Amino acid sequence: PRTVSLAVIPGDGIGPEVVAEALKVLDAAVGAAAPDVVFDKVEYRLGAGRYLDDGEVLPAAEFEQIKSADAILLGAVGGTPNDPRLAGANIERGLLLKLRFELDHYVNLRPTVVYPTVESPLRDPGDVDFVVVREGTEGPYVGNGGNIRSGTPHEIANEVSVNTAYGVERIVRFAFGQASARRGKLTLVHKTNVLTFAGGLWKRTVDRVAADFPDVAVDYLHVDAATIFFVTDPARFDVIVTDNLFGDILTDLAGAISGGIGLAASGNINPDGTFPSMFEPVHGSAPDIAGQQKADPTAAILSVALLLEHLGLTDASAKVSAAVRDDIATRTGARPTAEIGDAISRLVLNS
Ligand code: NAD
Ligand code: IPM
Ligand code: MN
Repeated sequence: PRTVSLAVIPGDGIGPEVVAEALKVLDAAVGAAAPDVVFDKVEYRLGAGRYLDDGEVLPAAEFEQIKSADAILLGAVGGTPNDPRLAGANIERGLLLKLRFELDHYVNLRPTVVYPTVESPLRDPGDVDFVVVREGTEGPYVGNGGNIRSGTPHEIANEVSVNTAYGVERIVRFAFGQASARRGKLTLVHKTNVLTFAGGLWKRTVDRVAADFPDVAVDYLHVDAATIFFVTDPARFDVIVTDNLFGDILTDLAGAISGGIGLAASGNINPDGTFPSMFEPVHGSAPDIAGQQKADPTAAILSVALLLEHLGLTDASAKVSAAVRDDIATRTGARPTAEIGDAISRLVLNS
């Protein structure tokens, strides 16, 4: 049998609640569609809770173990914003971004489908099925900056967006590949009218790479205008390629229009396979609803579908996606987290 080593990082808040459901569905899908595959799961207790316990954010030994896994499933990390006990640590940068950067997750793949039966806040969203290809290792996220004369009235805070020709080209090529395999439409989202230096590099790269993908129609939108179309005409999008920060913002909006952030899945992918890819819901630890079984585990479950697909377990992945679609079709009102996971697991087993 094939063994897949899976590092599981449940994290904080609703993270462990949604990961528990995602693992139920993973087991069901593997049992139903990939019985010869054994998932060797190792759980890592990392996040704000761990930091508060022993001051550790990502110990080197655990990082090395995670690095040697075949894939990573993460719930969500981070405490309540403004918790003074977390002031000295940056869980997001020290853990989540460290994993994305060190494991070279340059593709942050965030698909959005508006299921026909779902209750979207948009009255008539239309046939929405797009994927945001968010750059994952550069942009304003790199931590290039600093505070000068900190705390004084003359403070200057710089947060420099780093965009390399290498980094932009590889994400743009990946996005063209996606568009070519989908409906042949790629939209670059940036802010080239103001961010002329970085925007210029992105625009020139898209124009150049386009020559290698004659089957893909290319479009461009400024990010502010893109938010308009996310609400007024999201069905126009197929593949969106954008930088790390714009992609972060747009994908929360995408989750909201699709019927809730609890539906939005993502993959942090290292396409070269040098390092394990990491799958996680788009949402955070939601301290406001943690511990109440109110979280929607669908995003974590759909992240398992992305994980299975990434591992080449296509049938198992398809079973999860189909079960989610079927479950959503029957949803009426709020259900406890575990009930949704159980229902989707049953649908997977009965498919
Ligand atoms: P959040 O996504 O945790 O919550 C925003 C809102 O969405 C909240 O009202 C929350 O209740 C709701 N929500 C989120 N997930 C939901 C789900 N599955 N079902 C139902 N409702 C859901 O964002 P935030 O409040 O800005 O961040 C909270 C913490 O999470 C912060 O520490 C932040 O840094 C961290 N965070 C972590 C990740 C991650 O680990 N990938 C992602 C985003 C935020
Ligand atoms: C996300 C989150 C992260 C991001 C934070 C927690 C670092 O918001 O995964 O979307 O900004 O990428
Ligand atoms: Mn985000």
